[in-house]
Amino acid sequence: MRLRSIELVLPNAAEAADYLVNIWHSVLAASPADKRSDCQPGTYYIRGAGNFPYLVALQEGESSYVRSVTYVCSQQAIDSISEKAWAKGLNVTTETPVDLGGGSGIIVELAEGELFRFITGSEEVDTINDPDLPVKLTHVVCNAEDAEKSGHLVEEILDFTVSDRTKGMVFVRCNSSHHSTAFARAGFSSLNHIAFEMADMDAVMRGVGRLRDHQFTPAWGPGRHGPGDNVFAYFIAPFGAVVEFSTAVEIVPDDYQAGAPEDWTWPENRIDQWGMSDKDFSGLKEAEAEFRFKRTWQPE
Ligand SMILES: [Fe+2]
Repeated sequence: MRLRSIELVLPNAAEAADYLVNIWHSVLAASPADKRSDCQPGTYYIRGAGNFPYLVALQEGESSYVRSVTYVCSQQAIDSISEKAWAKGLNVTTETPVDLGGGSGIIVELAEGELFRFITGSEEVDTINDPDLPVKLTHVVCNAEDAEKSGHLVEEILDFTVSDRTKGMVFVRCNSSHHSTAFARAGFSSLNHIAFEMADMDAVMRGVGRLRDHQFTPAWGPGRHGPGDNVFAYFIAPFGAVVEFSTAVEIVPDDYQAGAPEDWTWPENRIDQWGMSDKDFSGLKEAEAEFRFKRTWQPE
């Protein structure tokens, strides 16, 4: 199972696409002007250097919300998720995605309204040789009313595994990468942030420099996290969401022992391994509430 993409709806999708392509640095894979039958109308598809046809879909709409977070997996995994989610009474709908890359699968509405889509048979594309492009998404983190419950639910239904628990988050993996998602103990459900995987630490640092060239300073970072051990730099995008440059997330073995909050403590005045950067707590908090999940389809 691999995290592929996030699908957002928002006003001024063209401006958001311009930011991601020309400042964040990514590639426009399809735009509304292409009028493609395999794409949502009014949608900009943004890709990175890797094999996925796109990483972020930005669809023009009246308000900002998350349409779905998409994983690619086997048909066997889809069948298993479908069965377990139905048995748990969750909404599951068969889906033939009208999004770049196609494929088929299901969309599952988790307990707090998170819309996770699982597809198989979607197309892959040739890689691009550009060390400054994000390679792929490495994680999409959700805010949760009850992060503990969400962690248990995805273990039960999606066959994900909790990697670590901290005072703030429950980190969850769907393959050997330490986390592809996490549930933040926020007290409400929303998109917390989208993390783009960069090729290496230099690519993260050059990314920070590129954003600074355009008068965007990090909301937090550069730094290195505890759980996952990844290097990070967070920015608040002009379209409202929190986006992250990330690299070198820990690869964990199957028998990785999940840490508890008491295993992940910091010395006083320290919230990452390096301690070199300030964090804009209030700005991030506001942006992390901007995009809620919204179901626009009727469950089967
Ligand atoms: Fe992150």
